[in-house]
Amino acid sequence: MKISIFGLGYVGAVSMACLARDGHDVVGVDLDPHKLDLIRSGRSPIVEEGIQELTAQVVASGKVRVTNDVAEAVRATQLSFICVGTPSSPNGSQDLSAVRRVSEQIGAALKDKGDYHTVVMRSTIQPGSMDEVVRAGLESASGKKANVDFGLGFQPEFLREGSSIKDYDNPPFTVIGTEDERAANVLREVFGHLQCEYIVTSIGVAELLKYACNAFHAVKITFANEIGRLSRSVGVDGRAVMDLVCKDTRLNISPVYLKPGFAFGGSCLPKDLRALTYVGKQNDVTTPMLGNVMGSNRAHIDHALELVAQSGKRKIGMVGLSFKPGTDDLRESPLVAVAERLIGKGYDLRIYDPEVNLSRLLGANKRYIEHSIPHIGSLMSQDCAAVIDHAEVLIVGLAGRELAPTIAERTRPGQIVVDLVGLPRAGVKATEYHGVCW
Ligand SMILES: NC(=O)c1ccc[n+]([C@@H]2O[C@H](COP(=O)([O-])OP(=O)(O)OC[C@H]3O[C@@H](n4cnc5c(N)ncnc54)[C@H](O)[C@@H]3O)[C@@H](O)[C@H]2O)c1
Repeated sequence: MKISIFGLGYVGAVSMACLARDGHDVVGVDLDPHKLDLIRSGRSPIVEEGIQELTAQVVASGKVRVTNDVAEAVRATQLSFICVGTPSSPNGSQDLSAVRRVSEQIGAALKDKGDYHTVVMRSTIQPGSMDEVVRAGLESASGKKANVDFGLGFQPEFLREGSSIKDYDNPPFTVIGTEDERAANVLREVFGHLQCEYIVTSIGVAELLKYACNAFHAVKITFANEIGRLSRSVGVDGRAVMDLVCKDTRLNISPVYLKPGFAFGGSCLPKDLRALTYVGKQNDVTTPMLGNVMGSNRAHIDHALELVAQSGKRKIGMVGLSFKPGTDDLRESPLVAVAERLIGKGYDLRIYDPEVNLSRLLGANKRYIEHSIPHIGSLMSQDCAAVIDHAEVLIVGLAGRELAPTIAERTRPGQIVVDLVGLPRAGVKATEYHGVCW
């Protein structure tokens, strides 16, 4: 394939060398004449394992040439990758001026190009930028329509500096955000040979994916370092602790606890998190990330309450009260916090939870309900249908396999559902549906 690459920094220079090595004809474009001269002389503008040799080889083979002429590069190729920089502005936002400029330049070149051309963004960009900056720039400068007259996609790049050629060849997955099947097929021709899953998704998901991955990496490093500092402060080797943490691939290094849903709670997580951060205080170790986890959890509860408040309705039904399905334990349940806040604001609340009802009948949790949260106990009903019927707004905090169809069938037009757990939508008759994170 004939491919142009805009921006010959780490991402662009590695992509250029690897695509040419894979047999494509590549035209590299950059504003920096020094970089262009380096490449013309067979040298790479970046320092990375193997990149100097590979650049020399592909330049000598004639598979690579460079220019600063955007229009000529677009004319001579079928596919363009945008790899320009997106640095931080002083206020932390992203400086998208290079993306804006190159999109308009490519758009102007597309104006006079008859053949179908595909433009793919590889730089990391803030959610919404594909639409507001890239698509807008391309369309306004070309007078053409994306996904009709030219293809448009976003393919996040997952390579890391220091191991970029290896990462380029072994990505965790290839993800293409596009609404254009032709663009997805063009990219499958280029990247379909890689030994990883090829996933086509929406542009919004692809944009956020890259940020979510990098944020997760940063959170993992910070978590390990905070545990490391806490460990050291009590005379323990943090590496030994984290080695064992990593050995649990069932709950720790696994997809468990990584699905957006409702706040955490229960008798262990909040208690132990508080105790651990207190150990830090005792030993003069600051742990800003761990120390803010409870605050973030409270913000999540606030967000759910906000969804209820926005409805303007007063009659609320809640399905679920315990901190997770299959238990009657109400200690530090975030749903209890929701109920208490609603009661405090004078909402007309009814609650149904099958496990908690059962434990009241058996006496297991009876004491806790009657002594610690009697104000909530008196609002509990044993009749799920009656709670749903009462509700102008139904908060779904529990939707197991048996309960979900009952909830869906009993909802009615005009009702509002606030879903905290991912209730299957099939059959839900409520007019308004609000997922807590979706
Ligand atoms: N560096 C990495 O490891 C890495 C990994 C994955 C994703 N990314 C993302 O990829 C993007 C590029 O990162 P990088 O580290 O390669 O950037 P970089 O700063 O090393 O290179 C960007 C290049 O773009 C050129 N440029 C700017 N405007 C241009 C224009 N209008 N036309 C042509 N060239 C232009 C610059 O001269 C520069 O050579 C960023 O969004 C970054 O977040 C980087």
